[in-house]
Amino acid sequence: MAIPRHLAIIMDGNGRWAENHHLPRVSGHRRGVETVQSIVRSCRELGIGYLTLYAFSSENWGRPEEEVGALMGLLGQFLKSEMETMLTRGIRLRVIGEIRRLPAPIGQVLEEAVARTAENDRMVLTLALSYGARNELVRAARALAARVASGELAADSIDDETFASVLDTAEIPDPDLLIRTSGEMRISNFLLWQLAYTELYFTETLWPDFDDEQLQLALKEYGRRQRRFGLTAAQIHGKDREDPH
Ligand code: FPP
Repeated sequence: MAIPRHLAIIMDGNGRWAENHHLPRVSGHRRGVETVQSIVRSCRELGIGYLTLYAFSSENWGRPEEEVGALMGLLGQFLKSEMETMLTRGIRLRVIGEIRRLPAPIGQVLEEAVARTAENDRMVLTLALSYGARNELVRAARALAARVASGELAADSIDDETFASVLDTAEIPDPDLLIRTSGEMRISNFLLWQLAYTELYFTETLWPDFDDEQLQLALKEYGRRQRRFGLTAAQIHGKDREDPH
């Protein structure tokens, strides 16, 4: 089976799962966290090098206060309960997004978890928290503008690589496969720069129901895709060029 080096997931449908089961929305999120725990383990076992999860968007701050509070609580619990797993399985935690907007105690737990797992090298688990790609791009543009203004960087020397180096995802390769659950076919402000050549996979399955079997289906479909990176099929098959990059 084709194993992507970097798998990114938009975990959607917790609310609808709860509604379908006549439960409060927070129960859907709780089940969603259980799915996160099992998918993290499966990806690690499969040898996926990078797993990036869209856990809380910049726009999610606009949800009812009670739901935002519940999500923050679940995040705190998740970090505590997963620490052992991350340490024993060699998983390194990273975060992308406007972390300073998170409640201070959560920010602190996150910082500790990132520091404690910094030496792990079997899989990088990146949580996108208070994340929006436009916000990330704006912050990157500001960082570059400040370096140009100070005379440290020439505007003309800015290229793709320079730009990527000031994004939150610097040092993380672009995703090979993006999965979005719950039938929505949108990118919703997730990794807009990084998804340029990513294969997209959409499934009707709601996130709490996304199990190993669903993951296998997505990976099988990924294996059938032909990635061309804007080149011709002949080039990709090694007739004209060996490396599509
Ligand atoms: C979408 O469901 C999901 C979210 C807004 C957040 C995803 C969060 C989790 C899975 C739990 C917290 C994550 C971690 C890593 C601890 P929705 O509420 O938008 O569903 P709906 O579209 O059916 O309403």
